[in-house]
Amino acid sequence: MRALENIFMIAVAGSVALVLTSCGPSGDKPNVELIQDMMETQADKPQRFDDFFKDHTSSRVPPDHTIPVGFKPYKYGVNFDAANKENKNPMAGDVSVETLMVGQKFYETNCMVCHGMSGKGDGVVGTKMAKTPPSLVSDKIKGWNDGGIFHVITMGQGTMGPYASHIPQQYRWQVVNYIRQLQKQDTKAGQ
Ligand code: HEC
Repeated sequence: MRALENIFMIAVAGSVALVLTSCGPSGDKPNVELIQDMMETQADKPQRFDDFFKDHTSSRVPPDHTIPVGFKPYKYGVNFDAANKENKNPMAGDVSVETLMVGQKFYETNCMVCHGMSGKGDGVVGTKMAKTPPSLVSDKIKGWNDGGIFHVITMGQGTMGPYASHIPQQYRWQVVNYIRQLQKQDTKAGQ
């Protein structure tokens, strides 16, 4: 009798397991939702039609007159001279590995294609441009203050667009420090 009971229990457990494992998604049919907590997310996917908002786009912009936590408004606008003179680098002279690695990462992602790996203005895209990008290791840029380089990254210059949306504010000084490092290497190589 006991043995029969055991066989019965195993059979029941087996069929339950079979039912559970066969609930997986197949083709384009939706999954059977046993625990629904995280399946029906309220989150919007970007660039979708949205019924809820008046403009029907799921891509939301921040409400007017608000700034993200920790964001410092850039007060120099298009005034290069003021930025070059007054905007002080809070990380001036920081050549720690961490800083330079962050700077290098953003430089090589955003600037290298035009200004070249070592900053000489000979990037693969740069050399094909009608106005070739200037060298960042020139005497001219060596003579700028850090605020000037920060300014061009933030606002762009002439035919170069701004990189404010590509390089978050808190990493731009690292890029400046990395460019200073390229300049030092260039000076050494020239000796
Ligand atoms: C699409 C190519 C391109 C990219 C990418 C680019 N630049 Fe430029 N950059 C230029 C060009 C072209 C100029 C010259 C613009 C002008 O004066 O009309 C320039 C000018 C500059 C200048 C001023 C140089 C001078 O002698 O006046 C600095 C500094 C600079 N770029 C830094 C950067 C940094 C840092 C990055 C990355 C965040 C970057 N650029 C990304 C093309 C580029």
